[in-house]
Amino acid sequence: MIKELIKEHQTPFYCYDNTIINEKVSFLNSLNLEFKHNFYFAIKANPNLAIINLLKQKGLGAVVVSSGELYKALRSGIKPSEIMLNGSSKNDFDIKYAITQKIRSINIENIDELNLINDYSKEKGLVTDIGIRINPGIDPNTLSKISTGKSGDKFGIQIDQINFDDIQKLENTKLKTLSVHIGSQIVDYKKFIESYKSIINLADELNQKGFKIQYLDFGGGFPVLDQKSKGLDFDLWLLELNLILKNKQYDIIFEPGRFLVANSGFLVSRVNYIKQSGSKKIILLDSSMSEYIRSTLYGIEPIVELLHANNNEEKFEYDIAGGVCESSDFFIRDALLPKIIKNDFLVFKNVGAYGSSMSSTYNSRPRPLEILFNKNEHRVIRSRDTLEDLCKNEIM
Ligand code: LLP
Repeated sequence: MIKELIKEHQTPFYCYDNTIINEKVSFLNSLNLEFKHNFYFAIKANPNLAIINLLKQKGLGAVVVSSGELYKALRSGIKPSEIMLNGSSKNDFDIKYAITQKIRSINIENIDELNLINDYSKEKGLVTDIGIRINPGIDPNTLSKISTGKSGDKFGIQIDQINFDDIQKLENTKLKTLSVHIGSQIVDYKKFIESYKSIINLADELNQKGFKIQYLDFGGGFPVLDQKSKGLDFDLWLLELNLILKNKQYDIIFEPGRFLVANSGFLVSRVNYIKQSGSKKIILLDSSMSEYIRSTLYGIEPIVELLHANNNEEKFEYDIAGGVCESSDFFIRDALLPKIIKNDFLVFKNVGAYGSSMSSTYNSRPRPLEILFNKNEHRVIRSRDTLEDLCKNEIM
């Protein structure tokens, strides 16, 4: 299909394979989870309306972290009762918007949020359901830049910092959810289980004291790694998970982001130039860190393929760089590829999560086109920014 798409559309563009997203949803639905549960898509992984709507049609809710994401979730057709708001530093507007939309839960990460939630709910004559994201002090053994549950991290609240009696007294705020998310790309199932246990135990304790915790939000973090790495052992995860929830009556919410969309996404780029610099052969692409920043930011290199590759071709070592004015604007160092010439197309694979969503217009580059395909059909789901779009909102 990608070969068809490049005939019709200019690079760089992201394209997503609908079939792969469907497979991911089916996989999650096939897990033998012996308790009440729902999957809420972590929109930050890919906030395109078409992708959110696709997942909505498959029965998923949404977890959002800003009023922008909340607006997009609602625009995509997700019901407020299937949306949760997280966020380590929510703006007042995020909180007020979530209150008036009556979403399932506003999960607080700062005790201070309670005053605004309670006062504004009172002003509007509402009672708002909230959750608390707990920082359980667990090291998930993942990249430090995507680790969120250790003591000293900015996410969640440590239990000893919470005065639950004060929360119980609030008239326009009801604590119904406990939430935990210790990071992304977690391969050690025991870390997940340990984090889940921390909020199960706390919920049990609180409910004995008269609270009515109904929802436990276990966060996201299921890994999507390259073929060489060992992923999460879902069988062991499942076994322990069913065990720790046996005879419990909670509704469990999972918040997968990357797992649902990463593998479905491809970034297609054209080779502008090949340059010899010292001993290095450098491929310069028509995409850059503005379109895909994860290599620059985390040092994680995506899988790359030459579009028209012939497998038997001799391989050469190339550095693959983008076109913006930053020395760190590299996708891959020392990639082994067949001989590359100008106007070849390179395809980065598994970039459907945190690819487009973290893109920017740095160097005033238009944000790229996005295409969704399903078997032989395809449609544009985001047009490329125009030059005028780059000036939109600016006042001379
Ligand atoms: N729930 C919460 C509260 C989160 O903070 C996140 C991600 C998720 C769910 C979804 O996590 P996932 O299943 O996608 O791992 N930009 C980074 C990832 C940052 C993730 C932030 N939080 C990257 O490109 O790897």
